[in-house]
Amino acid sequence: MVDVILGLQWGDEGKGKIVDFFAKDYDVIARFQGGPNAGHTLYVGDKKIVLHQIPSGIFHDDKTNLIGNGVVLDPVVLKKECDAVASLGVDYKKNLFISERTHLILPTHRALDKASELSKGQEKIGSTLKGIGPAYMDKTGRNGLRVGDLLDKNFTTQYIKLRMKHQRLLDNFNFQEDIHQWEEEFFEAVELLREFKIVNGEYFINEKLQAGKKVLAEGAQGSMLDVDFGTFPFVTSSSTISAGVCSGLGIAPQKIKEVIGITKAYCTRVGSGPFPTELSDSTGDFIRNAGNEFGSTTGRPRRCGWIDLVALQFACMINGVTQIVMTKADVLDELAELKVCNSYRVNGEEKNYVPFQMNRVNIEPIYKIFDGWNTNISSIDRFENLPDKMKTYINYMNSFLKIPVNYISNGPGREQIVHVKK
Ligand code: GDP
Ligand code: IMO
Ligand code: MG
Repeated sequence: MVDVILGLQWGDEGKGKIVDFFAKDYDVIARFQGGPNAGHTLYVGDKKIVLHQIPSGIFHDDKTNLIGNGVVLDPVVLKKECDAVASLGVDYKKNLFISERTHLILPTHRALDKASELSKGQEKIGSTLKGIGPAYMDKTGRNGLRVGDLLDKNFTTQYIKLRMKHQRLLDNFNFQEDIHQWEEEFFEAVELLREFKIVNGEYFINEKLQAGKKVLAEGAQGSMLDVDFGTFPFVTSSSTISAGVCSGLGIAPQKIKEVIGITKAYCTRVGSGPFPTELSDSTGDFIRNAGNEFGSTTGRPRRCGWIDLVALQFACMINGVTQIVMTKADVLDELAELKVCNSYRVNGEEKNYVPFQMNRVNIEPIYKIFDGWNTNISSIDRFENLPDKMKTYINYMNSFLKIPVNYISNGPGREQIVHVKK
């Protein structure tokens, strides 16, 4: 049986914390897409750690962690991350497995990402510059190198061939930066990667399932950044939705049971692209500061706004969400008034769906207004003790989305989570 945890917005919903919280109930925690563009924050005691490629189950000593074939992996980032988790006492070589089909991010992919963004000027995607787009382009373009290729004696020849192809593209972009240092780091990190447990991921996971083990698939990014259903072209290059679990791990759709969707109690976005409920005023600044809304991977300030139920309903539909976890509820503690977008005015007409090209139409959010709860909820641990005004906010979401909000996260700490009892 496989359960999935994924983001319902534009990423950074708090997936890392929630996966770490749920991990105790599973045997295997697996990443199925994305790469070092992800930044998943969790706390081990009072130590904060941000994971980019390693699944967020790594701090549970008895759990298996798998980097699936749908991921794009940068050996340099992995090496740094391994050092960071090792410094917290984790024996990562014991519990971390990598699919041989996982595509590699090469230094030239990072260079191409940068060159492409520079060439777009004002229209840039706002990519994390980790080489994600170019690495997935080489996957679908059937050029990429995979983790399993590292074990082939011809790896260096294959690398040089692809590097030359990339150089021609970089020359076209007139990209002048010297990346020799990046390449040195890459080959050093590749040595470490060769020492990992490189497995046939699809057999590995299906054998576990057959043996009755429970798998938790950990999504990266968010549904509105999905390459098909997100706000294209301002999206990432992978399938961030539940369908991506099947192709990103090699498991059949019938194996998926719960799809746990994570949403903040409000909404954020980092990078360019449409965001109908964005607040460019002092309330937006308040949320950014109260929620410490700065990118976990890039440090960029996140754009903040009200929760958008039109987009959330869309995300629940394409993912088949069965339950919701609402995070960062505590960030709204001091606001006197809260707004919830429950439809859009698209070119003057009221609509309740996500339009094809959000930035080619004029979208005005239509809000329902709620009283703020004006209570510090960060140390509340029982649902019945949460303020009534907050329950009203959650009940509205439940009835709008027709999917239960089962947990409310009220702080970054591992134990700051309230189970909504029915
Ligand atoms: P992810 O990419 O979905 O894993 O999310 P990030 O780690 O990028 O961003 C979420 C941020 O919010 C991190 O700094 C978390 O420590 C923090 N966080 C998670 N849940 C909560 C919560 O309920 N309340 C508060 N105040 N912070 C939270
Ligand atoms: P987690 O897993 C938030 C955004 C980038 C940019 C767009 C494309 O931490 O939620 P890319 O580097 O993928 O080509 O960038 O997607 N983006 C994220 N935003 N959280 C993430 O991951 C993101 N990963 C990519 O900011 O707008
Ligand atoms: Mg993040």
